[in-house]
Amino acid sequence: MSKRVIMAAGNWKMNKTPKEAVEFVNSLKGLVAGSKSEVVVGVPFVCIPGVAEAVKGSNIKVAAQNVHWEASGAYTGEVSCAMLKELGVDYVIIGHSERREYFGETNEMINKKARAILDAGMTPIICCGESLTQREQGVTAEHVRYQIKVALLGISAEEASRLVIAYEPIWAIGTGKTATNEQAEEVCGIIRQLIRELYNDDVAEKIRILYGGSVNAGNAKALFEMPNIDGGLVGGASLKLDAFEQIVKHDA
Ligand code: PGA
Repeated sequence: MSKRVIMAAGNWKMNKTPKEAVEFVNSLKGLVAGSKSEVVVGVPFVCIPGVAEAVKGSNIKVAAQNVHWEASGAYTGEVSCAMLKELGVDYVIIGHSERREYFGETNEMINKKARAILDAGMTPIICCGESLTQREQGVTAEHVRYQIKVALLGISAEEASRLVIAYEPIWAIGTGKTATNEQAEEVCGIIRQLIRELYNDDVAEKIRILYGGSVNAGNAKALFEMPNIDGGLVGGASLKLDAFEQIVKHDA
């Protein structure tokens, strides 16, 4: 059975102004046209209108980096799913370790966000991953399984089969210290096994599981070729045209 469509998703974090963002994707469009991989750019909220307009007619899809689960109301500073959907957003990254660490996001909040994103007709990219201490204490599998189990409460098999999960060991994010192919594959395999337990073989075969944490032009190919890894959530290297182009075209 052939593997799932590989996804190369950029997570720009708090980088690039709206003008810089449009310039970047206008250049990226030509570089990645016709690629076999699915190309996604996860851009700051204020960059979404311009970027969504600029990528029209191309093979680049737009992701937001967060969302609130309520439809509307007194939530100062927040953005709803309907607002994102209207702009043409396809994916929303939720549960990134930076949001968990700096903004107090819990698994329960991530579960509510996943529900709202699916209800709005968009696709969540649900992040999970262990700290260095957790890895050293040997609780990586338990920790990641717990994060994903809670995030998926109440999500149906049909919905789960369309989801994207990103395994991002915290110790590998922005550190230049990539997990080895075997370490990344092992945890992505554990996540796929969990999906099999929670749902069935069919969902486990369809769901896409990305690896994130210091993915770059040099290591993407070997990581993405691992049986349980379906692409990458890429931070730093997604901000550079040549590096991101090479990651998208890792198999060229
Ligand atoms: P990095 O970030 O590629 O810069 O390590 C990955 C992420 O945080 O999604």
